[in-house]
Formats: sequence, C-alpha cells, structure tokens
Amino acid sequence: MDGGQVRIVPSVLPADFARLGEECQALEKAGVDRIQWDVMDGHFVPNLTMGPDIVAACRPLVDLGFEAHLMVSNPDAMLGRWVEAGCELVIVHAEAAPHLHRTLAAVHEAGARAGVALNPATPLSAVEHVLDLVDLLLVMTVNPGFGGQHYLSSMEPKLAAARTMLDRDAPATELEVDGGIKLEIIGRATAAGARTFCAGSSLFTDRDDLAGAVHRLRARAQEALR
Ligand code: DX5
Repeated sequence: MDGGQVRIVPSVLPADFARLGEECQALEKAGVDRIQWDVMDGHFVPNLTMGPDIVAACRPLVDLGFEAHLMVSNPDAMLGRWVEAGCELVIVHAEAAPHLHRTLAAVHEAGARAGVALNPATPLSAVEHVLDLVDLLLVMTVNPGFGGQHYLSSMEPKLAAARTMLDRDAPATELEVDGGIKLEIIGRATAAGARTFCAGSSLFTDRDDLAGAVHRLRARAQEALR
C-alpha cells in the first residue's frame, strides 16, 4: 500500500549542470529516495534539457533509483534508451501517448516500472482504464517546462480524487506530485493525498544544507499524515 510511505524525489533541473555527478552524490548523501531527471524536448514543453547519455554518465556514481520524467512529444521513440541509461522508472505524459496502454506495456517490456504524468488540465479519466499498468501516477501542480513556478492549489481536488482512485483500484501505485513543492506547501499536498514529492528549487536554495531541506520536507509531510 503506497498510502503510508513518504518519498522525497528531487528534480535535478535546478542542479549545477556543470557538476551533475557531484550533485547526484550530494543528493544521495542528503537522504533523498530517488532522483528525477526532467527530460524536455523543446516541443512538448518550451524548454530543452538532457538526453539519456547524461543520465548514464551519472548512473555509476550513486546507488539511488532514477526516474525519467519524459516531457517529450514522442516518448515511445527512446523508451529503451532511458532504461539502458539506468532509469528504474519511466514516466510518460498521457497527453503525449495516444496509445498509452501500448506505451506503458513497452516500458514494462524494457524492464522498468511505468509512470503516467498528467498536466493540470488533464483529467484522471486518462488513466482509469490502464491502472493495471501504472506503477506511479504523477500529478503536475505546475504547467511543465520550468522549475521555480508556483504550486497550483487548484490541483488538490484532483490529487484527492487520485488518492481515492488508487486506494480503491491500485493500492500499490505511487501517487507523486511535482511542481512548486516546498516546506509551506508539502503539508497540504500530503493532506490532499500525495505521498511522493518531486521538489526542485526548494531543495537547492541552500546547497550547504541539502540534508536539512530533505529532512524538513519529509518531516512536514509525515506530520500531515498523522
Ligand atoms: C516542471 C518540472 C519541475 C521540477 C520541479 O516541468 O518538472 O516541476 O520538476 O521544480 P520546482 O520544484 O522548482 O517546481
């Protein structure tokens, strides 16, 4: 049952791209649960970030799980490359996968767990018929493309409905939230139903206190679960 465990999953989007390997090692040392690679193609979202070779270069440096958040127009094109690069989780956007059932099955065939991300305007109904293939549901609380945006509290009813749907129909599926997650926000996102939290800019505000930032976020979420 995913309902209980809090996971802190940093996005490396705000990390120092000139020292990505060291940044991954610092995140591992700080006690995060996984690392999220924000993959953007400049088409599905108006930003361009990294390819699988960057992820592969960092793979041997840490033992942490990697998740690839594919904000790309054609996620099917390189599914296997992300798994070969060392991602245990590949998250595709429902809006970019017209044959979502086939795409999720392909992620599993490639040897990874499969996630589905939903942009703010996309309803939960986009995944209700493929939940048996969904290991992680990612509810976006910003419009994807850039870090440092404000959390959309209007997504909380959707988060709550997602929590109800997963507890009823797919209790092992993780519910992750991504966008504007910070100390003042994580409690309400937890109360709404999220249990895995992708945070970028809020974690990197004080690079000398990454562990403290991770600890405070986790503690606040756990407090909201009591
Ligand atoms: C949006 C990105 C960001 C990132 C987290 O495209 O996916 O949400 O992961 O960035 P912050 O925590 O700064 O919103």
